[in-house]
Amino acid sequence: MFSTSLALICFILLLPIALAALSLAPWVPTKKQDLERISQYSDLKPGQIFLEMGCGDGRVCTYIARKNPEAQVIGIELALWLYVYARIKQMITGPKNLKIIFGNALKHDFSVIDVLYVFGLPETVNKKVKTKVIKEMKPGAKLISYIFTIKDWPGTIQEHQSSKDEARILVYQKKSVSKH
Ligand SMILES: C[S@@+](CC[C@H](N)C(=O)[O-])C[C@H]1O[C@@H](n2cnc3c(N)ncnc32)[C@H](O)[C@@H]1O
Repeated sequence: MFSTSLALICFILLLPIALAALSLAPWVPTKKQDLERISQYSDLKPGQIFLEMGCGDGRVCTYIARKNPEAQVIGIELALWLYVYARIKQMITGPKNLKIIFGNALKHDFSVIDVLYVFGLPETVNKKVKTKVIKEMKPGAKLISYIFTIKDWPGTIQEHQSSKDEARILVYQKKSVSKH
């Protein structure tokens, strides 16, 4: 009886994390040593909006929000316990320009986002994320992908990895509309 109840509790606790893992990727955090690089490649300007799809424990969006107090930063997380952790941390330590949302990041409106950060599985990033970004994001907006490449990107691409010990960070930018 006790072991059945324990198994049921474990199942209930782990189910949200398992469902999120199937959607974008399981929770594997970005390395803390790469946070500054992500901030630099984002090159956020005051008033711009940064969105982290699947923010996990909130380390990336928190770092970006602290480094860019004039920008709006959003982290969306589908796994309930990770969301609760990131949200409580944000309520206690801030920063105020960071909003943590519970939900499916693939359903969020990307049209107002200036910089989108994702650490997802190659297949999900190449299918679900790429399609939505091409359809919704505005010209000049950036998609930053941690480690995994996006095939056949119809805009500019920068690949950052100066040594094999460093994680690859890819910056995909949508073509800007020409002004003449
Ligand atoms: C590889 S982890 C990256 C975590 C965090 N972005 C980081 O870099 O430290 C992927 C995260 O996305 C979350 N996730 C998966 N599918 C999602 C979805 N559709 N919407 C929001 N979050 C999702 C997972 O729960 C997990 O926390």
